[in-house]
Amino acid sequence: MITVRDLYKEYRVTERGRGLGGTLKALFKQEEKIIKAVNGLDFYVGKGEIVGFIGPNGSGKSTTIKMMTGILAPTSGEVLIDGRNITRYRKEAVRDIGVVFGQRTQLNWDLRLEESFELLRHIYRIEKKDYRETLEVMDSILGVGELLNKPVRQMSLGQRVKGDLTAAMLHSPKVLFLDEPTIGLDVGSKYALRKFIKEINAIKGTTVILTTHDLGDIQELCERLIIINGGVMMEDGNLSEIVERIAPYRTLAVEYYDAVVPEHAKAEILSVSDNVVRYKFMKADMTAAELIRDLSELYPIKDVGIEEAGIDDIIRIAYEMKK
Ligand SMILES: Nc1ncnc2c1ncn2[C@@H]1O[C@H](COP(=O)(O)OP(=O)(O)O)[C@@H](O)[C@H]1O
Ligand SMILES: [Mg+2]
Repeated sequence: MITVRDLYKEYRVTERGRGLGGTLKALFKQEEKIIKAVNGLDFYVGKGEIVGFIGPNGSGKSTTIKMMTGILAPTSGEVLIDGRNITRYRKEAVRDIGVVFGQRTQLNWDLRLEESFELLRHIYRIEKKDYRETLEVMDSILGVGELLNKPVRQMSLGQRVKGDLTAAMLHSPKVLFLDEPTIGLDVGSKYALRKFIKEINAIKGTTVILTTHDLGDIQELCERLIIINGGVMMEDGNLSEIVERIAPYRTLAVEYYDAVVPEHAKAEILSVSDNVVRYKFMKADMTAAELIRDLSELYPIKDVGIEEAGIDDIIRIAYEMKK
């Protein structure tokens, strides 16, 4: 469905020197700087996959998504959507793709939501029947029906994102690109968004590429993870395999009835606050149940919580391993 081949993107930025001297000098000679945002990416995404595309800030995720959706032309290399070069056949290929950027909207601030949708219906020449059908599906998943008469300007972030997701699905794209769609969303809207991704993938077989900093999003949605840093591939594979390999530990937070700090030979104490002690242990050494059992023999336990390594830990560890 998506083929990314030897993809590079360089941005040329002209820098002005500082101060009056710099400004005068800039009249004659603009200093040009090259930023290598994407440095040779290769991957393939099959139909119906949901792929988590992650990496630290500035690693080139948005630049790659912009090239995959034809918004930016690559410096070199190519992106094929369903066999078609997106740069050369952008007009045809955009019918196959939908894109949502969490920080921006493709809706018109001055229109009611339904008017924005109508506009898109005309742009994509969507049949009325298909349009109504899609709206119905989106309403059943996201409850977007009650927002149709609301001006976009008056919407909360969560409502606007629901509007944007629906807008991106109106022409029934085969591939949906979501660039940090959950950023800033409240828990309820985040839940709705995850449900939306799962359902359009199940109902319509939509392929989804998702960038996010939220490990919950990834764990709930993605079987496959692509990790990039500095515009190069760090990892590409099965989520649980990557996590097992690069973060083979867990954290157990134990709340005791008293301010005690029981130790365990196979666990490292990460922090102590009030009656809560956080332990880090290797999954290969023991299970969380064994650790809880051992600790409860020392002191009575009030509550426990198990944490997997966070996405930022995983990115950081993957990065350090490659250095
Ligand atoms: N329009 C642009 N002009 C110049 N540099 C840019 C532009 N967009 C992004 N960059 C730079 O390219 C690199 C990758 O950015 P980006 O793709 O936005 O990363 P991410 O989405 O992973 O945070 C960063 O160093 C960023 O500053
Ligand atoms: Mg970005």
